[in-house]
Amino acid sequence: MKPILLSAFIPALASAATSGQFTALTFNVAGLPEILQSNDVNGTKTENAQEIGTYFSEYGYDIIHLQEDFNYHAYIYETDDHAYRTATSGGAAIGSGLNTISNSDWIDFTRVKWNKCSDASGSDCLTPKGFTFMRWNPADGVFIDFYNVHADAGTEADDEAARNSNLQQVADYIDTWSTGNAVVVMGDTNSRYTRADDTGVRVFKSQNNLADPWVDLEKNGVYPTAGADALMCDNPSSVETCEIVDKILYRGSDIVTLGAESFAYVGDKFTNTNPDYLGDVLSDHDPILVNFTWSLSSSVRQSQFSGGPHGTWFSDLPSLPSSPVASVVTFRGAERLDSVAVKLADGTEFAHGGTGGSEVSLTLGPGEYWTKTELCTGQYDSHTRNFYIKATTSAGNTLEAGTATDSCTTFTADDGFAVVGFVGQTGDEIDQLALIYAAY
Ligand SMILES: *[C@@H]1O[C@H](CO)[C@@H](O)[C@H](O)[C@H]1NC(C)=O
Ligand SMILES: *[C@@H]1O[C@H](CO)[C@@H](O)[C@H](O)[C@H]1NC(C)=O
Repeated sequence: MKPILLSAFIPALASAATSGQFTALTFNVAGLPEILQSNDVNGTKTENAQEIGTYFSEYGYDIIHLQEDFNYHAYIYETDDHAYRTATSGGAAIGSGLNTISNSDWIDFTRVKWNKCSDASGSDCLTPKGFTFMRWNPADGVFIDFYNVHADAGTEADDEAARNSNLQQVADYIDTWSTGNAVVVMGDTNSRYTRADDTGVRVFKSQNNLADPWVDLEKNGVYPTAGADALMCDNPSSVETCEIVDKILYRGSDIVTLGAESFAYVGDKFTNTNPDYLGDVLSDHDPILVNFTWSLSSSVRQSQFSGGPHGTWFSDLPSLPSSPVASVVTFRGAERLDSVAVKLADGTEFAHGGTGGSEVSLTLGPGEYWTKTELCTGQYDSHTRNFYIKATTSAGNTLEAGTATDSCTTFTADDGFAVVGFVGQTGDEIDQLALIYAAY
C-alpha cells in the first residue's frame, strides 16, 4: 500500500508564522595559540574547543557569536552540528576570530576591520580584529541585522581611545546599513559601564537606541554610573547582577518587535568533562545567553530580498506615513531594472535607483492594491542585480520593466496587505530589493 503523504493534509495556503522565539549566545572561546596565551584555562585548547562544539550541538542555541575563534576553530566545527556557519577568516595574525553559527540562514555577510587598534597593552594590532554584519532571516519576511564585535582590549589611554573608536565605528555602521531595521549587537566589547573611560559602550543606547537586557532585567533598567565600583563577576558567575565585558544589545523595528525574555551567564553549562579537569571552565570568558521573542506588526510587513548586496542601503520604513496607500507606481528599465518608485495617496513619494532605461507608470484605481511582485535577477560586472520587475494589482492590472531572466521569484503580500514602499540596496540600478507592505 502506498503511504499517504502527510503533506496532503496541510492546507495549501497555511499562512507564515507571525511570531516566534530564538536563543542567542555570545562566547569568547579563548582560541589564541596556547603558546601566546594560556587564558589561565586548564586542559588543552584542542580538547576544550571540541568540548565547546559538543555543547553547541547539545544545546542547539539558534544563533551563536564566537570571538577569539582563532587557532582551534576546526575543533569547534568538528563537534558542532549547526546547519549554518561562517567560514573562518583564519588563525591569529590573519583572521578576526569572529564567527557565527546558527539554525537559520542569513544574507549579506560582511567582515569589517577596525579603523584603529592599540598595542599599548596586549597585542591588539597583531591580528585584523573588527566586527561582522549579517541580515539574519529566522522566518519569511523577518530580518534582524546581527553584529558580532571584538573591540580593542586594555586600559591604557591608547587602548581606551582605540576601543571607543571601535564601538563608535559599529554605531555609525548601524546608522548607515541598518536604517529602519531590527538590530542585535553581541560580542566582546572589552567595556564595562562602570569603567569611567569606556564611554564607547554607551553609544549603542544614545546613538542607535539599543536596549541592554542585562540592564533591563538584572539592574531594574538603571545603567551603572561611569566610574562606580566595578561589579566584578566570578567565572562562571552564579549571579547575574555583576558585569562582564561581553554584551548582548538589541532593538526591534516597525516590522519586527523584539523582546528579551531572559538574561543569563551560562558558563556553568560549558564546563570541562575531562576527568583531569572536571568542572573547570573552558574559556576565561563567561558566555551570555539571552532568550528573545519576535513578533510581526499587524500593520507593516516586508518580503524577502531579491538581488545582491551591492550599492547603498536604503529603507522607506522610517518615512512611511500612517495608513499608507499606493496611488501611482513607476518603474524604469531596459536590459536591467533601473529604478522603482511609488507615490502614496497622501503625496509621499519613494523613488530608488537611476535614470537609465525607459519609464512606465500605472495609476491605481480606488480600492485597487499592488499585491503581487515578480523580480528576476542576473549577473552584471560579476555582481547580482535585479533585471526585471512585474507588479500585479488586485484588479489584475500589471506593470513591468527590465528584462526577465531564468532566475525569478514571485512575492505575494499577506491577505489584507499591499506594497507601499521599498527596502534594499541601490546605485544607479536596483541591486537588491524587498517590498514593504502595509495593511489596508
Ligand atoms: C585549574 O586547575 C587547578 C588545580 O585543580 C584549580 O585549582 C584551578 O581552579 C583550575 N583553574 C580553572 C580556571 O579552572
Ligand atoms: C532559554 O532557552 C533555553 C533553550 O530553549 C532554555 O533551556 C532555557 O531554560 C531558557 N531560559 C529561560 C530563563 O527561560
